[in-house]
Amino acid sequence: MADLRAMAEAADAHEEAEARALDALVVKSVLYRSGEVDPTAKPPAPPRRDGQTMLMQADPRLPPMPPQPTLIDFFRHRFGPAAHLLQSARLAVKAGHPDKIVLACLLHDIGVVGFIRSDHGYWGAQLVEPYVDAEVAWAIRMHQALRFYPDESVGYVYPEMYVRLFGADFRPDPYIDRDYQAARNHRWYMSARLVTLNDYYAFDPDVYVEIDEFTDIIGRNFRQPEEGLGWDDSPSSHMWRTIIAPTKFL
Ligand SMILES: [Fe+2]
Ligand SMILES: [Fe+2]
Repeated sequence: MADLRAMAEAADAHEEAEARALDALVVKSVLYRSGEVDPTAKPPAPPRRDGQTMLMQADPRLPPMPPQPTLIDFFRHRFGPAAHLLQSARLAVKAGHPDKIVLACLLHDIGVVGFIRSDHGYWGAQLVEPYVDAEVAWAIRMHQALRFYPDESVGYVYPEMYVRLFGADFRPDPYIDRDYQAARNHRWYMSARLVTLNDYYAFDPDVYVEIDEFTDIIGRNFRQPEEGLGWDDSPSSHMWRTIIAPTKFL
């Protein structure tokens, strides 16, 4: 009996929280607005009704996440179109690369599709670092720099796309150059290089790949926390929580 009452109370509380969320005021972080507006300028006051509360949970406009979210749940419910990542991972499988390289390819732009573009290799590596082999995180971090430097020994040339996107006279920032120089002499250099190689050819609009193709590789190589990503108190849990609830007020 007590159990039934507790369940009913929990259901009521959940419903109430949902109703509050739908009614709550959503505001965007500085980072979302910065650039379009000067972040140092005073932001306009949000149109807050009398008594209206601020959103302190997941954004009700987004698909709900399960209570113990997995990496695949993030691919399905929070990441933008991931065709490029899925294609590059399939290319790595086809080339006969080991799981570690396939996983690094699958996750290499996780920053771009799920979180933040600027310095995406560094953000993406930090996000997954607690859950993958150190070499996988390193390869994701370093692909950011290596993308800008050719390596003829493996047939990687400077991407034509970068000339179009960044202009012929674009040169990477000094910190990118420093990381490239350091990576060249690192024992895992080729792992990051293979990420860039499979990256290069993974923009085919006619190739469709499902995340399910990598369920086994993820299962073997991504340490999915029992509590769910975001709720496991790892050094990057807060980053996963921010992706779950990106407009939470505080
Ligand atoms: Fe990238
Ligand atoms: Fe990429």
